[in-house]
Amino acid sequence: MNKTVITGIKPTGEVHIGNYLGAIKPAIELAKKYKASYFVADYHALNTEHNAENLRRQSLNVAATWLACGLNPDEVIFYRQSDVPETFELNTILTNFTAKGLLNRAHAYKAAVDNNRANHEADDHHINMGLYSYPVLMAADILLFDSNLVPVGHDQQQHVEIAADIAQSINHLYGKELFTVPEPYLTPEGQTIVGLDGRKMSKSYNNVIPLFAESKRLKKIINSIKTNSQEVHEPKEPEGCTIFTLYRLFAGESEVAGLASRYRAGGMGWGEAKAALYEVIEREFAAKRELFNNYIQNPHLVETHLQQGAVKARSLATNKLKQLRKAIGID
Ligand code: ADP
Ligand code: TRP
Repeated sequence: MNKTVITGIKPTGEVHIGNYLGAIKPAIELAKKYKASYFVADYHALNTEHNAENLRRQSLNVAATWLACGLNPDEVIFYRQSDVPETFELNTILTNFTAKGLLNRAHAYKAAVDNNRANHEADDHHINMGLYSYPVLMAADILLFDSNLVPVGHDQQQHVEIAADIAQSINHLYGKELFTVPEPYLTPEGQTIVGLDGRKMSKSYNNVIPLFAESKRLKKIINSIKTNSQEVHEPKEPEGCTIFTLYRLFAGESEVAGLASRYRAGGMGWGEAKAALYEVIEREFAAKRELFNNYIQNPHLVETHLQQGAVKARSLATNKLKQLRKAIGID
């Protein structure tokens, strides 16, 4: 079967290597085989980003990142979510078929409630409806294009499952396949990438390695990775070490074996291990960083691609909505 793939990145901060390995890289690979739509999820970012200038800048960054990482806008439908308003009409439709209980169980909402409880606040303190209904908007993105596969990091798996649940219940209610039921596409590489402090790399933890940091800054960031207090002469265990775990993601097999034996032999300090990590990350992203910088300096190039993508996306989306409106009796 010819599959359809979709994924989005929300522009909430600098794109990092967790986003790259969890979502961007597998998505670019899938686009070589299947029909793909990749987008900037700007209305998802509005949930937390309430500064207009930041949102604008970060949206451009995410779009430029997609292009710099190899997205071919002639083959992939590449757009900004807010340019496809059909998404928001579908969102309205879907809310009417989404059990509130399903959203009560969503990880992001539950984590926010747990955090409030830990701080002795009311359960819903500072929780807006954008956070609560975030999975419905994400379902609208996915179901609008009858997508089969959704490349995401493991933390987003539940959201794709919620989209599948909503699709199934609507199909069941109307007795026909109104929506394709999507599946998450998870890669072993995109298992949760660790951040500078050993926790999940995430913008919300401030522990990220940005994809396109300039060399000097990248070096500084890598030097800030937390390590234990073992001295240079002591043998070290590579497994479980943040530097080694990250190194393995970008190095070849023999390089990985080489670094592992240097760890175990002793005589190698953390500074040297960090320098080795810097080298492989710089090698992976130096050329892409140049492309990225060029797009940032020429935002009209990015905008042209996004506008062309929006036209293609809207043509599919208006068709889909027409069918749906008919099926539900709003036409
Ligand atoms: P963040 O957690 O930094 O806010 P996003 O939620 O914007 O990141 O994630 C964008 C994409 O990158 C999603 O598909 C997500 O699953 C993936 N992703 C984010 N962090 C990681 C990570 N540490 N490891 C693997 N994938 C990740
Ligand atoms: N929720 C995703 C994230 O936080 C971004 C996203 C929005 C998305 N809509 C999507 C991912 C649709 C895949 C498909 O990273």
